[in-house]
Amino acid sequence: MDTRPFRSVLYIPGSKERALEKATTLAADAIIFDLEDAVAIDEKARARVLLAETLQSHDYGTRAKLVRINALSSQWGREDLEVIASARPEAILLPKVDEAAHVEELAQLLDARPETAETRIWAMMESPLGVMNALAIARAPRMAGFIMGTNDLAKDMGCRFRPDRLPLMSALQLPLIAAKAAGIVAVDGVYNAFKDEDGLRAECEQGRDMGFDGKTLIHPLQLAIANEVFSPSVSEIDLAKRQIEAFDAATARGEGVAVVDGKIVENLHIVTAKQILAKAEAIAELTE
Ligand code: COA
Ligand code: MG
Repeated sequence: MDTRPFRSVLYIPGSKERALEKATTLAADAIIFDLEDAVAIDEKARARVLLAETLQSHDYGTRAKLVRINALSSQWGREDLEVIASARPEAILLPKVDEAAHVEELAQLLDARPETAETRIWAMMESPLGVMNALAIARAPRMAGFIMGTNDLAKDMGCRFRPDRLPLMSALQLPLIAAKAAGIVAVDGVYNAFKDEDGLRAECEQGRDMGFDGKTLIHPLQLAIANEVFSPSVSEIDLAKRQIEAFDAATARGEGVAVVDGKIVENLHIVTAKQILAKAEAIAELTE
């Protein structure tokens, strides 16, 4: 599993030079360079060439870089791949993945080129069929992560947007559980009202509590909140350290269980505590 943080995953339309430029300095853990829905039909051809050039000439540092191509069944998908392959993309994000065969088809195309020998695949989870096939998709070749496509999902489900996201809950959780089972990253969908900070914070907190690694974002204004919410807090880090200390002391006494703040601490809690510290360390390395 990719151990880099994926707290903030920013979409950038592949056709927007200024945004592509700006992103070299933005505090996003990962970037989705989009050739699909954020690029108008008339712009598709220009965007893929611009993006291939930009990826080769710009330094996006340690940020994870995902290129969202159009579906391979569309009239643009194969050409997108053809042009982007020259930039040796670290990952291709495939939209509208309904079944593992869609990933297998892309994996074969990547296998056929030396430039894409190392390229990983991410899948958009954004259709009812994709959700129902999530485990097989998560286990398909080269898979590294899921991105929830909540706008497409809500459209296909015929469900309404509500602050509690109850109508979407199963459609979020099934891919999330599949991602955990397969050991791949899972990133929550976008929050459309990009100037509504309170709404974004609430939805980030919900996604974090569910177990998502981070949130996809559409505007730089959203970065700080996602980064904050998906980072371990000071009190979580402090508790993790105290749990490890107490458990080590208990083990030294020949006991298998410790008590911290009136709560039992077993080996499994130590696994979580160590994950929290590792995540905090990975985040600290990013900002150094
Ligand atoms: N990534 C990087 N930079 C971005 C950005 C993004 N997603 N969105 C905006 N910016 C930049 C703008 O280029 C602008 O930079 P400048 O000040 O240097 O000119 C600055 O942030 C402020 O932008 P603003 O004027 O507030 O936004 P806008 O009105 O031009 O655009 C959106 C608003 C929503 C259209 C735009 O943010 C966007 O295209 N987001 C991505 C949408 C997307 O990819 N959707 C697909 C997945 S759902
Ligand atoms: Mg979509």
